[in-house]
Formats: sequence, structure tokens, C-alpha cells
Amino acid sequence: MATQPTTVDRYGVMGYPVSHSRSPLIHRLFAMQTGQELQYELLQVSPDKLETAIHQFQRTGGKGLNITLPHKAAVAKLVDQTSDRARIAGAVNTLTFKDDEIRGDNTDGVGLLRDLTVNLGLNLNDANILILGAGGATRGIVAPLLEMRASSLCIANRTLGRAVALVDQFKDMGPVSSCRFDAVPITEQYDLVINATSASVKGELPPYPAAVISAATFCYDLSYSLSPTPFVVWAREHGCAKSVMGWGMLVEQAAESFHIWRDVMPDTAPVLKQMSVNA
Ligand code: ATR
Repeated sequence: MATQPTTVDRYGVMGYPVSHSRSPLIHRLFAMQTGQELQYELLQVSPDKLETAIHQFQRTGGKGLNITLPHKAAVAKLVDQTSDRARIAGAVNTLTFKDDEIRGDNTDGVGLLRDLTVNLGLNLNDANILILGAGGATRGIVAPLLEMRASSLCIANRTLGRAVALVDQFKDMGPVSSCRFDAVPITEQYDLVINATSASVKGELPPYPAAVISAATFCYDLSYSLSPTPFVVWAREHGCAKSVMGWGMLVEQAAESFHIWRDVMPDTAPVLKQMSVNA
């Protein structure tokens, strides 16, 4: 970790592993675009060193950190102030160091919503939504999706108990239900199917329920990769309307973090274009 004194405001992304992260590129592009002078570091930190590394970054004048896998839940316990959206998500992806305090926020949910509704033009009002997976990624997006007044939100998971637990947590916020992959109700067509399993990251293709895909179904993989993920390919093969990876969410959640830190909202369109060109 770089600890040499610097007059430029320091930020970074902390994860394990983290070498693949696009956050340094995205934040450098935002900084150039908005004329902000800052430094953004890539910080590989194992779980047992997380607390020490965060406090060292704070002590040496760091202004903010993005937190990525596998630390998003663990870091929530290390902050002095947590935003409502981070508390509900049970995960923190943005730290701000200010007035000797560590503030934790979560920009993933708003990042996904901006990509879906602004960049991709989806109307989620009255939509039937299916989320595949019931881990940390799902927990972070259920509340923001329900706030868009979806008609139904079903969480399907290999391990039913995890989906049931999430429904229990969010049932007062909207029409949410749980099931296994082989028991997804097909009473109405799904407008949006989101893959929130970590299977894509591992290059795996679980037995997703093909009957949920119609020509009107928009499919979104929270994972992103240089080539189409197994889920994206699977959805296309089953005739969905459109199937995309989460590059837009990545750029939008970064923009929201940048805004929290610098009080300037970058224009995401040119950055997303550049990332997609790279993809
Ligand atoms: P994350 O924080 O990325 O959500 P996680 O909390 O470990 O990671 O959750 C991973 C999710 O992907 C879970 O829903 C997991 O299903 P289980 O709860 O049954 O373990 C799902 N997942 C990962 N690999 C999978 C696979 N090969 N088939 C089906 N589901 C898979």
C-alpha cells in the first residue's frame, strides 16, 4: 500500500483479489472529465488485514475507499456512521473518511437502477421481476427494486432457505416471494430477470429456469466480463428481448461514490462507452 505523503486527495479500491478491478480506470476518467485532481489506488487486502488496512489508509490521509468482494459485509461493522441504504443492504461499498470518522454507504443499488432505467430505458413500474440468487448481491438490490413499485419480485435460489430469509427481511417493503429454480411461478411473463448468483464469475451455468424467458424479457447479469457471461449467452439462446452484463451498474455505482466524495456528478455515458469498447 502506498503511504508516502502526498498533497493530492487519495482514494482507492480495497478487495481480495482486486487486480482485475476497473475502478481505478473509471475514477481516473471521472477525475479527468470533471477537472478534479486525485489519486486512486488498487489495494489488495486479505480479510484478516482488512481492519488494519482501512485504519492505516485513514491515518495516512486517505479520503475515501471503494470496498469490493469479499469485504462488503465485513466492512459494515467497522464504520462509525452507516447510511440507510447500506444498513438495509447489509453491505458497504463506499467509505468516506471525514472529521476522524468513517462513513459507510452503498451505491450498488442506485447504480443498478440508473443503469436499468436511465441507460437502458426500462420502466420498472408494475414490472414482474425475477432475481436468480439469494446472496449478498441480491440483498443489496431488493429494496431499490421494490422502491420502483414493481408488481412482483421473486427471488429464486438453489438453496431455498437463503431466499426465504431474504423475503422475510423485505416482505414489508413490497410484493416479494421466494422459490427454488425449478419452481419459479410462470403465471405472468417476466419483464426483467436479474442474475445475482456468483455462478457467472466462476464460469458456471446453473439450471436456470428457461420457461421464465419470453421475447419480452430483459435479462441482466450483475457480473461482467470481457466476453458474454454464461447467463447472458443462455438468455439469448432462449430468445429474450435483450441480455446485458453489469458494466453500466459498475460505472454508475462508481459515479455515485465519486459524487459522495467530490460533490460533483460525472457524466457516465462517455466512460461507459469507453468501458464497453474495452470489453
Ligand atoms: P454474493 O455476495 O456475490 O451474492 P454469496 O453471498 O456467496 O455471494 O452468494 C452467491 C449466490 O450465488 C448464492 O445465491 C448461491 O446459491 P446458494 O445460496 O445456493 O449457494 C449462488 N450460486 C453460486 N454458484 C452457484 C451455482 N453453481 N449454481 C447455483 N447457484 C449458485
